[in-house]
Amino acid sequence: MACLNFHMTGDRMSVEKKRIINNDRTVDVNQLVPIKYKWAWHAYLDGCANHWMPTEVSMQRDIEQWKDPAGFTDAERHVVKRTLGFFSTAETLVGNNLVLAVYKCVDNPEARQYLLRQAFEEAIHTHAFQYIVESLSMDEAEMFNMYREVQAIFDKDEFTMGHTDDILRPDFEMKTDKGIQRFVENLVGLYVITEGIFFYSGFVMMLSFGRQNRIPGTCEQIQYILRDESIHMNFGIDLINTIVDENPQIWTPEFQAATTERIKKAVELECAYAKECLPEGVLGLNSEMLREYVQYIGDRRLERLRLTKQYNSENPFPWMSEVIDLKKEKNFFETRVTEYQTGGALEW
Ligand SMILES: [Fe+2]
Ligand SMILES: [Fe+2]
Repeated sequence: MACLNFHMTGDRMSVEKKRIINNDRTVDVNQLVPIKYKWAWHAYLDGCANHWMPTEVSMQRDIEQWKDPAGFTDAERHVVKRTLGFFSTAETLVGNNLVLAVYKCVDNPEARQYLLRQAFEEAIHTHAFQYIVESLSMDEAEMFNMYREVQAIFDKDEFTMGHTDDILRPDFEMKTDKGIQRFVENLVGLYVITEGIFFYSGFVMMLSFGRQNRIPGTCEQIQYILRDESIHMNFGIDLINTIVDENPQIWTPEFQAATTERIKKAVELECAYAKECLPEGVLGLNSEMLREYVQYIGDRRLERLRLTKQYNSENPFPWMSEVIDLKKEKNFFETRVTEYQTGGALEW
């Protein structure tokens, strides 16, 4: 039986032939080299250099602190639970979108190399939240159902999933500008909104505990996740900008305005979520500071997409930039106790 689009040829792959999205399936999808999109290859290398596993992180002190009735106020416990409750399903949701929608549409091999790496990282992140919830003996049903039981979390996830609906249909195609725009909307929803905005109140709130040396194992994992997520988002923005550069006709003033509105809507949903997590101030945080921060990162995302910033807010948490820039060597290898199994140690 003959394979579609696969035949003997003397016509070798070249950088010029490669396209980030290739709707006609006319370019070979299996040749990583010659590498055209170096940003995608470097994201893959950076992701691999940052490899970690949740179970390498000790949860002993977290368990002691969480069990201590005096360890946390009710308001602090509420923040921890709402944050973990959001993340525990959001990571799975991202993984599903990546594998089922993004992978089928982005057929360039170097970009796919990174998507495969990112997909595994999303599985690790889902594992991390399962591991934290289990270690702290939290009510698993409460945590994993939160996205259907807490309005502010439901609203974020519903908004995110709305970006995937069309792409998941079997007949979705990108042969028209409308189709490419629909896919770019999905990428903005995944990489810029979900990973670049919806995760960030949670990062700030959880890492604020870490800055007081509380639930340190949980916060160590959140730091690694934040570092992974910043690579995911940077890859996503490079991907979107490359699609736009190769298909400039889709980047109409109307589409740019709609993208800006989409990001503004996400900022509002994230502020509502922060308010739900922080009905009163804890840890020197309140929902107004979170609003400043979410608007500040909203502006940064808009600028990266070459759109006009909307808020001009100040960053109330400059320490967050230091955490994002944290190099793993700084504190990861020093505390690491687990060696990965080598080939010789495996049983066949
Ligand atoms: Fe993730
Ligand atoms: Fe991610």
